Amino acid sequence: IPDAYNQAFRPQYHFTPQSNWMNDPNGMVYYNGEYHLFYQHNPHGSQFGNMSWGHAVSEDLVHWEELDVALQPDEHGMIFSGSVIADETNESGLFPTDEGGLVAFYTSAGDTQDQRIAYSTDEGRTWTKYEGNPVVPNPGIVDFRDPKVIWHEASSQFVMLLAAGNKIMFYGSKNLRDWDYLSEYGQDVGAHGGVWETPELFQLPVDGNTKNEKWVLQVDMNPGSIAGGSGGQYFLGEFNGKEFIRDEKDQGINWVDYGKDFYAAQLFNGAERPIWMAWMSNWEYASAIPTHPFRGAMSMPRTLSLQTDQSGEVQLVQQPVEEMKDLRMEPVYEMADKTISEPVQLSSFDRQTYEVVAEFKVGTAREFGFRVRQGTETGEQTVVGYDAENGYMFTDRQYSGVTDFHPSFSGVYRAPTKIKENGTVTMRIFVDRSSVELFANGGEEVLTNRIFPSLTSKDLQIYAVDGEVNVESLKIYPIESSWKT
Ligand code: FRU
Repeated sequence: IPDAYNQAFRPQYHFTPQSNWMNDPNGMVYYNGEYHLFYQHNPHGSQFGNMSWGHAVSEDLVHWEELDVALQPDEHGMIFSGSVIADETNESGLFPTDEGGLVAFYTSAGDTQDQRIAYSTDEGRTWTKYEGNPVVPNPGIVDFRDPKVIWHEASSQFVMLLAAGNKIMFYGSKNLRDWDYLSEYGQDVGAHGGVWETPELFQLPVDGNTKNEKWVLQVDMNPGSIAGGSGGQYFLGEFNGKEFIRDEKDQGINWVDYGKDFYAAQLFNGAERPIWMAWMSNWEYASAIPTHPFRGAMSMPRTLSLQTDQSGEVQLVQQPVEEMKDLRMEPVYEMADKTISEPVQLSSFDRQTYEVVAEFKVGTAREFGFRVRQGTETGEQTVVGYDAENGYMFTDRQYSGVTDFHPSFSGVYRAPTKIKENGTVTMRIFVDRSSVELFANGGEEVLTNRIFPSLTSKDLQIYAVDGEVNVESLKIYPIESSWKT
């Protein structure tokens, strides 16, 4: 592991900037064989400020290389969140040839917020701000930001979504420069405990059936989300080129992730698969997390699908991208068809970064699962388990290590999770130096949480409380660092 990436809380397979502040992923696009990740970044300090777009690229979604800052603040304001689209036929006329290039949409955050564009002819390395900016002026709305632009095939136009306080506004364009208002959505639906931010819109087949596709409108909200503070929700329905119409069957609130640390998720435009990544933090305490010399991390990239669950409801399902398996080493521990009631302490486990893949047949135990990043001397542990009595997956980070940097960090986070028809539940857990991501029942429920344990807390225990559980299968794979020397 290179020295620059070897601190106690430095994630080993999640992207972090080498130094300074980072929040939302921005401008995610797959273009000419490269995945681009831009991000909200303060190049000059470890707190929010001087907001710019940092930039990193990857060929495989696993190994990232940080490049120079892509967009810097100017006399109009800071460069807030937004998206990038590849204009490969030069519809915008911004490029010297028909091969086009990349167009970035960002919010200029000055006295007011408006939407502006910049373009790049060298694969995102350098950018020119458009002289006709802003492309969407502020209509008199205070929070008016986070342009996500997609190509909408059925109506042959580009569509821009904006977060506008308590709703999403849609705009359409043929040339990426002139935008017409289409509609707005959301004032009367979903959760409204805070301001809406960073919207996303994408289409997915239901249960893999391409004849039955649905649109997913994802919006983030700060504060008021399920685990407290900032988080995401989604709506299922139809986007007809003008309006989003929610399915009648899609009722209530659908949370994207039940943990505390998954915000502002965005998909890669231009990728062959639906893949998103999010900022792995929470506005409640983001500025206080005890990491140095960097502050802010991204989630793993995740693939998305829509699946009908056992109660007949269509759900957004998330799984880490297959490429994450490239970092897997040979399993160091395996178990099959074994009933446990007493805790099983894995002797000489000695790991900080690994993946647990487990299937349990629910028995009499009231609760079962894993105690990870445990230290006998430090007294630290993070519990990732299933509460069979009350029907939820949870992550308990109350004793996870450093928790006292903010009053709302410590806690237990829960995701309602049903036992499958065959009597089992599955857990896939990714442990890193400062995070735990739980994908339950194949990714139907997800909990993403940061933890800050001592480097020496690296024991692992499998446990059951008040009864038995059958471990149908269990494999533990160490994960190697993605940082290249
Ligand atoms: C979401 C957000 C966006 C904004 C950006 C500023 O986390 O608040 O709405 O554009 O962060 O960094």
